[in-house]
Amino acid sequence: MRKPFIAGNWKMNTDRRGAVGLATGLAQELRDIETVDIAVCPPFVYLDAVAGALNSSNIALGAQDVYFEPNGAFTGEISCAMLKDVGCTYAIVGHSERRHKIGETDELINKKISAAISSGLLPILCVGELLEQRQADKTEAVVTTQIKAGLAGLHSDKVLAVTVAYEPVWAIGTGVTATAEQAQEVHAMIRGLLADMYDQSVAGQIRIQYGGSAKPANTAELMACGDVDGLLVGGASLKVDDFAAMIKTVA
Ligand code: 13P
Repeated sequence: MRKPFIAGNWKMNTDRRGAVGLATGLAQELRDIETVDIAVCPPFVYLDAVAGALNSSNIALGAQDVYFEPNGAFTGEISCAMLKDVGCTYAIVGHSERRHKIGETDELINKKISAAISSGLLPILCVGELLEQRQADKTEAVVTTQIKAGLAGLHSDKVLAVTVAYEPVWAIGTGVTATAEQAQEVHAMIRGLLADMYDQSVAGQIRIQYGGSAKPANTAELMACGDVDGLLVGGASLKVDDFAAMIKTVA
């Protein structure tokens, strides 16, 4: 069975002191949890400090992005090896804020996914439709394109390193959560697509997280869906009490 996986995406929030405090509080609060995989994804500049605070805890470290080139003249970018060097296990790739606010393409995202896996990082591939795409009945087409393009060229032994995060853009940071039915419908579609692209066994092993205004009050309902294997949490992951409550609900 798929072990639940709850990750916190801190986005462009916290400062050094707040990041270390949040990590320290979570490590303390969640020290007895064994049945849920847990990760936090702080801003790049605080990864090292947070790694120190999480030291020997059951909380893994993730980055919010990664670049695909190994080194060289790529001003401002961060390589897979650098992330591993500071203790990252995971890297979020293709978050909707990077797709829609920064302009990342499926092609770039695919290169990042490939490079992350080759280096031993576990990528979290984010997909999801805009409100107007949902209203135009294009959710399945959009998500299918994002998954096929994001995973292009990856064989089944590699793709098992990936977690997919379905994050409907209209639910991110808006307080509007997808209903459990809406989430389950898209998650089941994604799993079917993975079965078509690979096989049932691969599709049955890949974890699919939901993200978009996930909070303590809707965690149980979302996680009760058969194809929702975890959550990628934004705002609620910035408070020890809220994020810990969500993980304890799942555990
Ligand atoms: P919110 O939980 O703040 O809606 O953000 C979700 C998200 O984008 C996580 O990556």
